[in-house]
Amino acid sequence: MVASVVVFLTMAILSGYCAGLEVLPPGPVNGTLGGNVFFKTTINPTTLSAIFWTFGDTPVIIVDFLSSEGPVTGEGYVGRIRLDNSTGSLELLKLTIADNGEYRVILRESDLMYLSNTSLNVYETVSGATITITPNPPIIEGGSVTLTCDAAGFNITREWMKDGHPVSSGDDIILSEDKRVLSIKKRTDSGEYLCRVSNHVSSENASDTVNVIYGPDGMEIKGPTKIEVGQKFTLTCSAYSNPPTSYTWMHNETEIPGHSPEFTKEKSEYSDSGDYTCSATNDVTGNKTSVVHKLSVKAEGSPSVVVITGTVIIVLLVVEVAVSVAVYFIKKNGSNVEPMHRGGSQQHVYENPSPVYENPSPVYENPSPVRDNTQQNQSPPLPLTDFKSTYDTRIMQ
Ligand SMILES: *[C@@H]1O[C@H](CO)[C@@H](O)[C@H](O)[C@H]1NC(C)=O
Ligand SMILES: *[C@@H]1O[C@H](CO)[C@@H](O)[C@H](O)[C@H]1NC(C)=O
Ligand SMILES: *[C@@H]1O[C@H](CO)[C@@H](O)[C@H](O)[C@H]1NC(C)=O
Ligand SMILES: *[C@@H]1O[C@H](CO)[C@@H](O)[C@H](O)[C@H]1NC(C)=O
Ligand SMILES: *[C@@H]1O[C@H](CO)[C@@H](O)[C@H](O)[C@H]1NC(C)=O
Ligand SMILES: *[C@@H]1O[C@H](CO)[C@@H](O)[C@H](O)[C@H]1NC(C)=O
Ligand SMILES: *[C@@H]1O[C@H](CO)[C@@H](O)[C@H](O)[C@H]1NC(C)=O
Repeated sequence: MVASVVVFLTMAILSGYCAGLEVLPPGPVNGTLGGNVFFKTTINPTTLSAIFWTFGDTPVIIVDFLSSEGPVTGEGYVGRIRLDNSTGSLELLKLTIADNGEYRVILRESDLMYLSNTSLNVYETVSGATITITPNPPIIEGGSVTLTCDAAGFNITREWMKDGHPVSSGDDIILSEDKRVLSIKKRTDSGEYLCRVSNHVSSENASDTVNVIYGPDGMEIKGPTKIEVGQKFTLTCSAYSNPPTSYTWMHNETEIPGHSPEFTKEKSEYSDSGDYTCSATNDVTGNKTSVVHKLSVKAEGSPSVVVITGTVIIVLLVVEVAVSVAVYFIKKNGSNVEPMHRGGSQQHVYENPSPVYENPSPVYENPSPVRDNTQQNQSPPLPLTDFKSTYDTRIMQ
């Protein structure tokens, strides 16, 4: 020890003369917590008469080597160093945070003296990189969605990639200043996200997939609005939706079986006119959207479907009313049953004939009310159905 102190002092005095003779490459040297570093000198193997390594500003001796006496390891470094006595290179093992700092080496090769220094950064390796997505799936468009990238390790930097392309703050994506939190909101932000966490000694990737649920929206039905009877027609329904939606068709109030986006009729009929409603449901959110398409089937070569349809209805109404009134009068004149009662009924017919005019369809399209009225006839007739009941009963008879 005495010898080494003498050598140290001697070298310190002489160091002014050889400060320019760097034997350590430009630093810093980077090590990982618990790992090893190698302070490698640039000199070729030779016979060194003295090697002296110190740490810190108030130098702590790491190792003191004299070719005549061998190495003496400093307190706290026993079992933690390996010294190459031909180059002066030092390996430091089992790094701790306390090893961060400046290292100096003094070498003597016969009459030559080298003094050099470098610094060591001890980093924790990156570990446990994860992306946390909030909220939990399903992620529904419109809400705020954040991806948080975390990892253990010192001096971490982060980089984000989406589907293999670097992510930076933009219209819809906001990256926090430290790049830890990424905020997204649009359907186009669905994709595979990767967060690469790095420091000077290591890096780790974390990745996760974002699936933004949306729709159905932008719904439309494509197809003709006017066709001639007998023509083929196809209506095509479309909507934007994730997950993809299935479709339900209705014609007027009647559901069309099947869930195809297309509805095709090879040979149209007049009754194919009307409202076609296409509904799409998002199975995740339960959101349902509908759109209506009007189709008129007109006669071949006829100018206007609306006029024709209107005419047909009016003709039917006129015929219907005429028939009803005629039947009534025939019945009335052909029998003398209960004239007093009949008189009362008559007034209902004339005063309030509207049920016949406004809604003649039950009589023709749906014969069941007729039978219902027959049954009702067994109990006292209701004023409004008085005439009809009597009339229907007579027909039944
Ligand atoms: C250690 O990291 C620094 C950045 O802090 C870098 O400039 C240097 O080259 C690294 N050292 C080595 C030996 O890789
Ligand atoms: C120098 O290192 C070599 C190889 O490690 C070893 O054999 C030798 O004894 C060392 N010299 C001294 C003086 O310790
Ligand atoms: C070496 O020491 C000098 C003087 O103390 C200092 O300015 C310099 O930054 C050190 N170099 C390294 C690599 O630590
Ligand atoms: C590492 O982080 C510490 C504090 O967290 C800081 O003081 C130091 O300058 C950082 N080093 C580098 C090379 O970024
Ligand atoms: C981590 O991600 C980067 C950037 O995409 C890539 O270059 C690298 O190969 C990935 N590393 C691993 C281990 O997947
Ligand atoms: C649907 O409604 C239209 C217009 O109201 C009508 O012309 C058509 O006959 C109806 N078709 C069916 C099958 O109900
Ligand atoms: C359904 O869709 C509407 C409009 O697109 C949207 O405002 C609403 O939040 C959605 N509801 C659900 C449960 O997704």
